[in-house]
Amino acid sequence: MGTDLFDAAAMYEDDYLHFFATPDASPTHGPVVGSAYRGGDAADLVWRLLALSPGMTVLDLACGHGVLANELAARGCRVTGLDSSTVFLDRARADAAAMGVEVEYVAGDMRALPSWTGRFDRVVNWTTAFGYFDDATNRAVLSEIARVLRPGGRLAMDLDNAAKFLMSFTPSRITASRANGDMLVDRNHFDPVTARFEVERTVVRDGRARRLTFVKRLFAFPELRDWLTAAGFTDVAASGEDGHPLTAGHHRMIVTATARVTG
Ligand SMILES: C[S@@+](CC[C@H](N)C(=O)[O-])C[C@H]1O[C@@H](n2cnc3c(N)ncnc32)[C@H](O)[C@@H]1O
Repeated sequence: MGTDLFDAAAMYEDDYLHFFATPDASPTHGPVVGSAYRGGDAADLVWRLLALSPGMTVLDLACGHGVLANELAARGCRVTGLDSSTVFLDRARADAAAMGVEVEYVAGDMRALPSWTGRFDRVVNWTTAFGYFDDATNRAVLSEIARVLRPGGRLAMDLDNAAKFLMSFTPSRITASRANGDMLVDRNHFDPVTARFEVERTVVRDGRARRLTFVKRLFAFPELRDWLTAAGFTDVAASGEDGHPLTAGHHRMIVTATARVTG
């Protein structure tokens, strides 16, 4: 699509899984995004915040390699995972099979979801999987989420907590490293005019280096609350990774919202 700010296919592929999806991998992604929860912990939090129950239809939007989607399916939800990375979806399907759970994995683009109007009880969007585009397009993604939720359905988004994130800003950082010397080295730039965090990443693997860039938008809660409200949501709230009301000390900002019931 024409609104790409970076090449997502170059970012979300095998090297990413090498650093972030293996048992001994470092779980950090940015300056300091923290990793207060992963897999089952994230599922516990979502379960509580979204009042999930077995049988509910859940869309994991930008599901990546399916850690949360597979876990929610294991707990009895009817889960659909959508992502643009076929490499990640292959891994998600393989892990689902190994776990003995069923998840509908769909290759797609969050900017234009399939004809799923009103289909889901819940949507989850996890680990900063929002804010990759210009603002008009980011807002269009929220409208797409509102469209695929049933009226009264609920959304949870897990994003960087901008306050904490910027307090921990460093111009460069080794974001991940492995015992054999492989590493990810990031040069970071924050543009306060666009509120975009821009990263030039060098991937060093097996002695070879590769460059890529990625961009993500940072949000103060009131801005995202207003965007969600304009997109058709009510009851927009923010908590940290422990599920308590958001503070500047939390690593993560978990935003929950309810699709407006009209008429
Ligand atoms: C930071 S990862 C998070 C993945 C997953 N939610 C998790 O918690 O591990 C962001 C994900 O967004 C996906 N993505 C990027 N652009 C996308 C797009 N336009 N449509 C759908 N997915 C996209 C990437 O492939 C990647 O899996």
